[in-house]
Amino acid sequence: MRAIILFDSKTAGGSTDRLIDSIGLELAKTGAYVEKARCKTTGDYSFVKDFDVVIMGAPIYYLLVSSQLLGALVQSNLKQYLAGKKVALFLTCGSPELMANLLYLPQLKMNLVNNTILAERIFAPDQISDPTVIAKYVHELDAAYKK
Ligand SMILES: Cc1cc2nc3c(=O)[nH]c(=O)nc-3n(C[C@H](O)[C@H](O)[C@H](O)COP(=O)(O)O)c2cc1C
Repeated sequence: MRAIILFDSKTAGGSTDRLIDSIGLELAKTGAYVEKARCKTTGDYSFVKDFDVVIMGAPIYYLLVSSQLLGALVQSNLKQYLAGKKVALFLTCGSPELMANLLYLPQLKMNLVNNTILAERIFAPDQISDPTVIAKYVHELDAAYKK
């Protein structure tokens, strides 16, 4: 599997950055080739065509998925290059999981109605550094990819 993690966070070295590195390392253990790229609303996402799986993740700020990832999905050529791709999603936030599932994940999923979503996960603050939770997410993603 060649996987790219497209992410956004306003906090350099913050919880999302650390989580991405942990997800990348865990995925690499399965034999996957993993890269990461920070999203920009106005970016060119043609490089996405070189990957089998696109993992998208970001924190929530003021009830919205961090703006560069959401902006890229809405305004750039990202959606065009995501056509036919398998994707996985994750969010970091402080809200309870139920609220996050109802309010936050749909902000991404409404832009991905034609994609197969291999795995999706809300990471609560206490789960961002939890190797068991991270391994479970990566295992689910890997198993769904290999199905
Ligand atoms: C300015 C700000 C606004 C936030 N707004 C929300 C919010 O509306 N809902 C929520 O669940 N979490 C909210 N959070 C919590 C963050 O989503 C959470 O701490 C996340 O892990 C931060 O990621 P980062 O360290 O990469 O910035 C907010 C955090 C900050 C700093």
